Amino acid sequence: MYWLAVVCGVISCAHAQLTAQSSLAPELRECYTDPALVNRNNLPPTTMPVLIDIIRKIEDNPNINVDLRQLAVLLLHTYRQDGIEYHQPEVGSGVSSTILPFAPTFHSFYRHRLLLTRIIPGNLQVLSNTTVNSELKCALHYMLSTTVDARVRGNENSCNQLSQYRALRTARDVSLVNDDVEILDLSKLKGADSNGQIRQYNPKDDVESTYTGSSKSERQVLGQSTCPILSGVVNTRWGAVSAGNLIAGIAAGAELQQVPIQELTKSSILNYNNVQSSVTSIYPATLSGDLAEAVLIQGTERGNPSISIGTAGNWNSSQATRFYMLHSRLNIEMTDPEIRGDIDGFVLGTTLTSVLGVSSTLKLSQLLDMYYTARNGVYNPTLRACNRQALGQQYINSNRLASETYTFAAALDTNMPLRGTITGGLEDLVNSAVTNFQTYTANNLNDMNCITTEATTVDYRLKTNLYIVLDATWQYNAVYPAISYLLDNIEVSKYGSSVTLLNAFDGNIIVNKTFSISDFHTNYTLAKHQALFTGVNLESTLTNIRMMMHSELENEKTTNYVGGNATVLLFLLNSGNIQNTPAVWEQARILNETVPDLRIIFATATNQFDNLWNLVRDLHNDIRTISLNTEGTNVEISMNPILERIGQVGRRIINPTCGSVYPADSSSGSRHFEDFVEPGYINFYAMSPNYFYQNNDNRKIRITRSGAGSGSLIVCYSRVVPQPRQNATLSGYEENAVICQTLASSGNIEISLQNACDGYWTVNSCPFFYISVQSSAASSSLSATCAEKSCRFPYNIRYQVQVEELGCFSNAVTMSLSFVMLLSAIFVSLFSWH
Ligand SMILES: *[C@@H]1O[C@H](CO)[C@@H](O)[C@H](O)[C@H]1NC(C)=O
Ligand SMILES: *[C@@H]1O[C@H](CO)[C@@H](O)[C@H](O)[C@H]1NC(C)=O
Ligand SMILES: *[C@@H]1O[C@H](CO)[C@@H](O)[C@H](O)[C@H]1NC(C)=O
Ligand SMILES: *[C@@H]1O[C@H](CO)[C@@H](O)[C@H](O)[C@H]1NC(C)=O
Ligand SMILES: *[C@@H]1O[C@H](CO)[C@@H](O)[C@H](O)[C@H]1NC(C)=O
Ligand SMILES: *[C@@H]1O[C@H](CO)[C@@H](O)[C@H](O)[C@H]1NC(C)=O
Ligand SMILES: *[C@@H]1O[C@H](CO)[C@@H](O)[C@H](O)[C@H]1NC(C)=O
Repeated sequence: MYWLAVVCGVISCAHAQLTAQSSLAPELRECYTDPALVNRNNLPPTTMPVLIDIIRKIEDNPNINVDLRQLAVLLLHTYRQDGIEYHQPEVGSGVSSTILPFAPTFHSFYRHRLLLTRIIPGNLQVLSNTTVNSELKCALHYMLSTTVDARVRGNENSCNQLSQYRALRTARDVSLVNDDVEILDLSKLKGADSNGQIRQYNPKDDVESTYTGSSKSERQVLGQSTCPILSGVVNTRWGAVSAGNLIAGIAAGAELQQVPIQELTKSSILNYNNVQSSVTSIYPATLSGDLAEAVLIQGTERGNPSISIGTAGNWNSSQATRFYMLHSRLNIEMTDPEIRGDIDGFVLGTTLTSVLGVSSTLKLSQLLDMYYTARNGVYNPTLRACNRQALGQQYINSNRLASETYTFAAALDTNMPLRGTITGGLEDLVNSAVTNFQTYTANNLNDMNCITTEATTVDYRLKTNLYIVLDATWQYNAVYPAISYLLDNIEVSKYGSSVTLLNAFDGNIIVNKTFSISDFHTNYTLAKHQALFTGVNLESTLTNIRMMMHSELENEKTTNYVGGNATVLLFLLNSGNIQNTPAVWEQARILNETVPDLRIIFATATNQFDNLWNLVRDLHNDIRTISLNTEGTNVEISMNPILERIGQVGRRIINPTCGSVYPADSSSGSRHFEDFVEPGYINFYAMSPNYFYQNNDNRKIRITRSGAGSGSLIVCYSRVVPQPRQNATLSGYEENAVICQTLASSGNIEISLQNACDGYWTVNSCPFFYISVQSSAASSSLSATCAEKSCRFPYNIRYQVQVEELGCFSNAVTMSLSFVMLLSAIFVSLFSWH
């Protein structure tokens, strides 16, 4: 078998640019043949966090040693193939096992081919087929590859109703929509249909397609959807973005080059005068690419001197977004997501040299993470997605854009089959397109701006191990969006939270603990859900969870874990009439006493307060009713209180020597863990009295800077405010409820735990110790001071949380003593009543 391996190795090198050829790339074919992969509901949602997660997996792959630019190029060459369309086989021709009815024939393919072969060539390299599993490979392919699927799906009647999601995302001002902009207008569309204006069928198509069906009617029959699906789009808080254009802009900008026009013209003579002798690679990779498509296609098909730029659309779900539906079938060469991807890719590509000047080891995942984030941005708060509109104005010069677009349009004309021949006036069409692009971008892309972004997001990030206990009697369509919403907001990711999915039937694991949002989504599918045992048995569930948590504590003992993450157990129950028994309560009590910083929250479809109140720590806040529906429309309103509750649970600080049994006299000695805070952000910790109940004069927590980074840290603590911070206006608390100190670039802050439980009779009645570490406000220019693997952002500020002489106390152990005290207390109070 050796020769086979060798031959395959060679072939795999030669495979390069199969994504640029005019048949479906072999390694992408399974995405169109394997039913499990064809159904995109089985793949992770197309969101920026999922894209970043998959890119991180590739970066972390020990076999792949490439820098940011090389990775951007490799992603394009391996996973992007634009313009793949379905072609209905001839009626009566039967299903052939040797023909796959998909080929890259949509207009976006021709630009794509030039991009991969001439503009961003990749030295004949692609990533190996085994770099990521098939699900993630197909997910990446769908996220990076621009195409439109106009097949009738049968759910078109719901396209209109979904405008509510659009309203949620952006309040589109209809009054600003000018004549050039297609908005959903069914009567107009019907008119277009009857005129037979179906694009994409092209008799002079020069593609050597594996499928050579030629019937004109096929596409016309198929091209009926009033809201066709645009692929290659990822959801961000700042609008849907075409990820292929984004990555192409970064790849082109990382190594900007002038591409001679002769290299792009397919050996044919240019028809046009005054074209530049070359194009600058970042233009055709982003803005000029889409503008040129619009000019050529609309110029030959519509005969309208005004080129229409911008096509709105919406996701057909508010959570776990996978399908982006356009509001029009006409003039879809430069849709809203493509505009955003073009601008973002152009800006990031243009600034990349200076960005890499700050730190040459910056990863692609970090660049995306910094740009699509609520605060700080790419070393500078102006360089963020929420600032797109201003960035566009700052970086895009209309004259330059017009001349680059004109030149590239002339070149693309020799590569793309069109339905007519432009015999003159190309320059005017280009100018119209550029003008309309500027107008549309300024007036119609009403994405969330930076002020709103900061006002509507919190300045703390969660690192929570979330255990979700799922009642499988929920309908998948109702509960999946709710779970998805939670996971997006607690940031399940390598640097953030984890999720574990358990069955409320018995506490067994459905999806193992994972920090990868894409792995979670690949594993929790409809089929998996439907195969689960249904029903709720709190006794076996809590018993299993108690054992699991105890073994986690024992693991933490072995690994000397001192803290850094929070833990939350969330029950999502649909069944009514939950059975609670003394045996159930007994398990909850043991958890309460021995896994003290595990927060248990119940979210139930019907009010179960009377059945559950004795199982939680805070019966007023930890039991909630949620109302979910199978349309997935109520998720945010329903789940926000749950999310807030999860957010209030602080990161743990523990004595690892306690394990699950809390041996007396088991001091932690001196230990520490490292943590990171982003400029302008705050981290919250909560320490259970189980670690400081009985007094030790030397017991303390110390916060020390252990890395560089701008500004000072503000350390606050409180016994009553779970999220203490400086200058917060607190009503109903004493003046000294929160105590803060400032930690400059060196030195440390000590918080004494001396006599911290004075006056409390039991371990559990003594309040937690809450601590926060805040970075003083962010500056306008950040430097890269955090180069280690554990730094999510290069400007993170590192510090240590040191613990001194924490002890181990648990009601189970200290009962005898406290019980005596309790009895005497009761005795005293009884006595005093008389
Ligand atoms: C690799 O590609 C082949 C098709 O060429 C496919 O059958 C196989 O499943 C792929 N493997 C992975 C891990 O993607
Ligand atoms: C969105 O549309 C796709 C494709 O038609 C469909 O499979 C999916 O179920 C739809 N999702 C929702 C929430 O309607
Ligand atoms: C805590 O969270 C970080 C990432 O945020 C993760 O790397 C680490 O493994 C977690 N530790 C535990 C014990 O969960
Ligand atoms: C979860 O992980 C453990 C150990 O890593 C493994 O034994 C178990 O089979 C996994 N369970 C599932 C459902 O994947
Ligand atoms: C997801 O499923 C795959 C295949 O069944 C398994 O290998 C993987 O461990 C699972 N991941 C998690 C997080 O459960
Ligand atoms: C857990 O401890 C708290 C604090 O003493 C108490 O209020 C709560 O009722 C306890 N819950 C259970 C389930 O024992
Ligand atoms: C609190 O107020 C003081 C005085 O106005 C200010 O210097 C400090 O930066 C503020 N702290 C925070 C965290 O905003």
